[in-house]
Amino acid sequence: MAKPLILIIICLFLCCPLSSSSSDGVWASSSLSVESAGDVLTSPDGIFSAGFRPVGLNAYSFAIWFNKPSCNAISCTIVWMANRDQPVNGKGSRLCLQKSGNLVLKDAGHIIVWETKTISVSPTQLKLENGGNLVLRDSRGRKLWQSYDSPTDTLLPLQPFTENSRLISSKSQGNYSSGYYQLYFDTDNVLCLLYKGPEFSSVYWPSPWLLRWEAGRSTFNNSKIAVLDSLGNFSSTDNFTFLSSDYGSRVPRMLKMDLDGNIRLYSLNENEEKWVVSWQAFPQPCMAHGCCGPNSICIYVPNSGRKCSCPPGYIMADPTDWSLGCQPEFKLSCNETEVGYLKLRHVEYYGYDYNMYPNVTLEDCKRICSELCDCKGFQFRFIKAHEPDGTYCYPKTQLLNGHRPPNFNADFYLKVPKATVPFYNNSVQDIKLQCSNKLVQPLERHYSKRHVNESVRFALWSASAVGAVEILTIVLVWCFLIRTRDDKISPMARYHLVTTGFRKFSYSELKKATNSFSEEIGRGAGGIVYKATLSDGRVAAIKRLVDANKGEAEFLAEVNTIGKLNHMNLIDMWGYCADGKHRLLVYEYMEHGSLAENLCFKALDWKTRFGIALGTARGLAYLHEECLEWVLHCDIKPQNILLDSKYQPKVSDFGLSWLLNRGDINYSKFSRIRGTRGYMAPEWVFNLPITSKVDVYSYGIVLLELVTGRSPAAMGINGSSDGSGSKTEQRTLVAWVKGHMATAEENIGETWKQEIIDPKLKGEYDEGEMLNLVAAALRCVQEDRDARPTMGEVVEMLLRHECHCC
Ligand SMILES: *[C@@H]1O[C@H](CO)[C@@H](O)[C@H](O)[C@H]1NC(C)=O
Ligand SMILES: *[C@@H]1O[C@H](CO)[C@@H](O)[C@H](O)[C@H]1NC(C)=O
Ligand SMILES: *[C@@H]1O[C@H](CO)[C@@H](O)[C@H](O)[C@H]1NC(C)=O
Ligand SMILES: *[C@@H]1O[C@H](CO)[C@@H](O)[C@H](O)[C@H]1NC(C)=O
Ligand SMILES: *[C@@H]1O[C@H](CO)[C@@H](O)[C@H](O)[C@H]1NC(C)=O
Ligand SMILES: *[C@@H]1O[C@H](CO)[C@@H](O)[C@H](O)[C@H]1NC(C)=O
Ligand SMILES: *[C@@H]1O[C@H](CO)[C@@H](O)[C@H](O)[C@H]1NC(C)=O
Repeated sequence: MAKPLILIIICLFLCCPLSSSSSDGVWASSSLSVESAGDVLTSPDGIFSAGFRPVGLNAYSFAIWFNKPSCNAISCTIVWMANRDQPVNGKGSRLCLQKSGNLVLKDAGHIIVWETKTISVSPTQLKLENGGNLVLRDSRGRKLWQSYDSPTDTLLPLQPFTENSRLISSKSQGNYSSGYYQLYFDTDNVLCLLYKGPEFSSVYWPSPWLLRWEAGRSTFNNSKIAVLDSLGNFSSTDNFTFLSSDYGSRVPRMLKMDLDGNIRLYSLNENEEKWVVSWQAFPQPCMAHGCCGPNSICIYVPNSGRKCSCPPGYIMADPTDWSLGCQPEFKLSCNETEVGYLKLRHVEYYGYDYNMYPNVTLEDCKRICSELCDCKGFQFRFIKAHEPDGTYCYPKTQLLNGHRPPNFNADFYLKVPKATVPFYNNSVQDIKLQCSNKLVQPLERHYSKRHVNESVRFALWSASAVGAVEILTIVLVWCFLIRTRDDKISPMARYHLVTTGFRKFSYSELKKATNSFSEEIGRGAGGIVYKATLSDGRVAAIKRLVDANKGEAEFLAEVNTIGKLNHMNLIDMWGYCADGKHRLLVYEYMEHGSLAENLCFKALDWKTRFGIALGTARGLAYLHEECLEWVLHCDIKPQNILLDSKYQPKVSDFGLSWLLNRGDINYSKFSRIRGTRGYMAPEWVFNLPITSKVDVYSYGIVLLELVTGRSPAAMGINGSSDGSGSKTEQRTLVAWVKGHMATAEENIGETWKQEIIDPKLKGEYDEGEMLNLVAAALRCVQEDRDARPTMGEVVEMLLRHECHCC
């Protein structure tokens, strides 16, 4: 009789040294130990497991995770955590189900870091049920406690989200502790996203400038319940609903409060063992509040999600921490005659309006802000509403949540000392689109969770090593969403949907493949290109980057992104090498070399030329527009348009400027090295903001070159490459073509076509197509960038004619 009693006492005292078997659950008076790897509970269907997970150096949390994609030391899809903010030691820590019915998590020092505070007179059992719910039941099967009631950052299908639930994002990619973003039911019964930072907090979803009903929400039902069903239908009592893009299929899903402040639904693509985003609350990462701290401006950067920057006249408050934002370099005077304004185009700072003034002029608005001593600047916008239309002036007392929303047609006027205006005015452009800091939009339609976790964590490691943890990243998959919602793929976008075997090569492998870099086939931006034969027999072009002085993690992240751009008119990247100091890129080999060589030495017939014009436009349109935002090439020229065996054009070297130059803070220096003489848009020369229209300009020049066979570079250097016309007109290819057209108009002659067309064509060309190309080219090369068409419009212009002919 005495023996069992003593055992029980010891048991209670030591927090039950007995370990449970993994599948039955934990019975009262037993425990799971952090030290034994087998102490894991698995749900009957095998989808979920629960146990201790390492979350840091000698730091463990008790968690529930998905078993697929396989949970390993590097990545694991964790859906719940008992003690996210207080990890326990790797030795001696246990989760114990006490005889009293209380489930406690004890750190090695016997400190209780977490408990369910449940009491039961009858024996209890802890089980991980199907659906990922960890449930504590008494002997009669009543639920005493369940993990579903206290979600961390993830909501599982059929898990009710209630008044008391909050999904709170993790701190960062490697740190699971509670972060700043929350999903919760607000007091007006509406499901909201909130930024709750150390300095301020604000709701940013649904859009705070909309009334609840305008955002489609109802405030009347106070039962406050939301649930995601097993087919992918999410519905909430505030009338907010969405269907996942794969609605109807029974696949594992999870709704996650991501650490960039967005909420996303992930579905498991079981064949590929990948999590795919099947819905997200908003596409613009800068819409989430708080990411950049006071005064700063959030800019969307495709690879890393977003980037913070300071407006002119402001500097980072703490160079290692963006959450503290920017501080002014100047002291503002309260004397209204001593202040001036810098116009920040398309920038919006949200909230903290002193007041709203309708129907005032810009000058009035300046005066209002100047008179207010603590006005830091104002938003000035024209709003076309039903009633009343007009300009609105919003002076701000705080500059928070600054960003550049897409299609935001209003400007922000930043108050600075009058004397500094001319000085700062020059740097206003620094917050604009720069070719160096945004280039590639990840076009990954499938979001590979595991992959991203690895590379991002890797990046974070190196970033934190230099003390600058500013990468709040998650790869965004807008394209994926757009694609899946809009099923009909436009005829313009002919994708390679097949994923190529993008991979990493070793240096010795590539050395062997290129026969010790013996056959040079080209030189271009950043490196020399060699011909190679890979071990699998494929012929490749290998670019050896010189000067790619960036860390391996960063290089990998970028190369991965570039490697995912797939379009029949973009060159395919097969892989890369980042061995020690070596940085190489492996591309498909283009049999017919570059357009430049072909125009120079071979006779491309008209049909081929037109096909090249159209294909190149398609490739660029894809880079610029298919994916919402800006992927600029910045160096379009015939040398960068390669031709495959069927003379189909493929644009090469996109993203390269980014690989070579990101992190180079000296944008002005960067600007100067971008582009090639003869193809450069005037914006580069005049130091104007760089937009996708720089590529349109360069493309226009390439079109003229296709038609005339004349290189603009040659014409620029040698003014009299042609015998006729006056010298001033010969200075550029554009002027030369226009000159011929003008004389034709005067004489009502038709000879100008024969004069400008490439003599190598020997008069064999389609006149309609030629006129179409010239017209498109001349629209592309207009000095005013806003007057130039987009690449998408160019494709349409060219296609319209093609179809007209058929
Ligand atoms: C996670 O972040 C918290 C708060 O910043 C910090 O105290 C903790 O040490 C971090 N944990 C890890 C594992 O880095
Ligand atoms: C909920 O949404 C539906 C469809 O969007 C609408 O017809 C209905 O009136 C809404 N209900 C409330 C209470 O707003
Ligand atoms: C609130 O929503 C719940 C669940 O959808 C529903 O059963 C209830 O009737 C609603 N109440 C009101 C007042 O609309
Ligand atoms: C999604 O669920 C809601 C609430 O249960 C329901 O009203 C709605 O019809 C469902 N939508 C679809 C497409 O099944
Ligand atoms: C404001 O500045 C102007 C010129 O700098 C000066 O003439 C004026 O007296 C100042 N006003 C006040 C109230 O200080
Ligand atoms: C703004 O001015 C227009 C014309 O002057 C007037 O019709 C409109 O009512 C005004 N709006 C407001 C809000 O004062
Ligand atoms: C700032 O520069 C822009 C053009 O770059 C010019 O239009 C504007 O007048 C300048 N503003 C001031 C106050 O100098």
